[in-house]
Amino acid sequence: MEHKTLHVQDRRALLMRYDTAVILKRFFFVEHSLILSIAGWLPGTAPLRLKMAYARTAWQDSLTAEAMRQRVFELRFPSRLMTKEGEEPLIRFIDEARNAPSALAFYLSVVEVFLPALREAYRQYLTLADGIGDGPSIRFMDLALREKVQQIEDLKSFLPELQSEEEHGDIEQARVWVAELNRDLSNLGGIGLEPIKQSESELPSLSGQLKFGVAQIPARESAFHRLRFYWPDIIMPDYPYGEGLELQLRSALSHINEVWAVEASAAFTYAFAEILGWEFVLDGARWMYDEARHCQMGLERLIAWGFDTSEIPLGTYISDAARDADPIYRLGMLFFFETKNIHKKPQRTEKFRELQDGLSEHDMDFDWADETKHAHFGSVWLTRLLEVRNEGYDPKIIRRRCQEMVDAVIASATDLERQEIIQIAEAMVQKARLLAN
Ligand SMILES: [Fe+2]
Ligand SMILES: [Fe+2]
Repeated sequence: MEHKTLHVQDRRALLMRYDTAVILKRFFFVEHSLILSIAGWLPGTAPLRLKMAYARTAWQDSLTAEAMRQRVFELRFPSRLMTKEGEEPLIRFIDEARNAPSALAFYLSVVEVFLPALREAYRQYLTLADGIGDGPSIRFMDLALREKVQQIEDLKSFLPELQSEEEHGDIEQARVWVAELNRDLSNLGGIGLEPIKQSESELPSLSGQLKFGVAQIPARESAFHRLRFYWPDIIMPDYPYGEGLELQLRSALSHINEVWAVEASAAFTYAFAEILGWEFVLDGARWMYDEARHCQMGLERLIAWGFDTSEIPLGTYISDAARDADPIYRLGMLFFFETKNIHKKPQRTEKFRELQDGLSEHDMDFDWADETKHAHFGSVWLTRLLEVRNEGYDPKIIRRRCQEMVDAVIASATDLERQEIIQIAEAMVQKARLLAN
């Protein structure tokens, strides 16, 4: 007896459930690796707005990756395994692209190789995916595609600025780096929906590569006034924090100087991704983005009031205090400063309201909402880190040690530095008075 079945050639069946899970898992690991590359390079990249764009990119990508991860769990229920199996050569290649010869070469690899490859892969996915069976993926993949397009657009604009920072290496070398990456990525079959081509042993090595390490001295944009201590009160206990107009200025300078916190959260997210796992990376990326927003709040207020970047001091003393130390102290510094200052923020918000400075009030109030989250991040992850490293003490010891490390840097301030920062502060206050009239 002949069995008859119904057949129809339908586009809906192009990607089956298993294929879909394999592809989304591949994308998750690619995003994961790129997030860490961007975090790792952020402290060594000078342009301030590019640091912010990197932080936003890493945060958006972390949410995309998390949506992918949750979807893979659904598609493969009951398995909760997320291994790189089958994807190792591709992921290793993206990891290794961190060893770029310069910040410029790394930047170009993001803008011209990896983000465009992901953009095309997501576009292809959306063309093939079935809106009925895979509807839940389509929602976040569509958003991910739009974000990729926007990220490329935003990041592209920083090329001239990045090139003008001399320390960032030359464009010829960066172009060679990108050409090689493109060649090797296409040999692997690109980042697409098909399984990758080569086995691990065939992975070529890249010429000009430098072993990557997070910059211990942060790269800072030369347009700003760069120094160690960004306001006199940091090194002169008698110098007032200020009221009225001085408080408005001081607070904006605190905000823009949170660039140290952006760099610190980027550095420890990179450092502890492996040992603390994906959930830590997710929090770390949000932390990085929040601090970038706080930094940008300060920058935008100062620019809106009429200050030029050359008049704005950017300090390094907190970063200096943790230089070359165990990266746990970068995490500890954030925990120390955030728990130390959090109670002051509602008071300042109130003061700005009295001064009818709606913008400072607005920024401080939003900042405070983020800080309550960060206080939680800090205590949870410091505790976990000490646990997994088997160090038998609590975060308070790290916090105290951070205070000592910062105090030591403050104690090393010279008379010349005191004179320099007093001059800068007086010039800013004077200009602010003129601008206020
Ligand atoms: Fe902050
Ligand atoms: Fe914070």
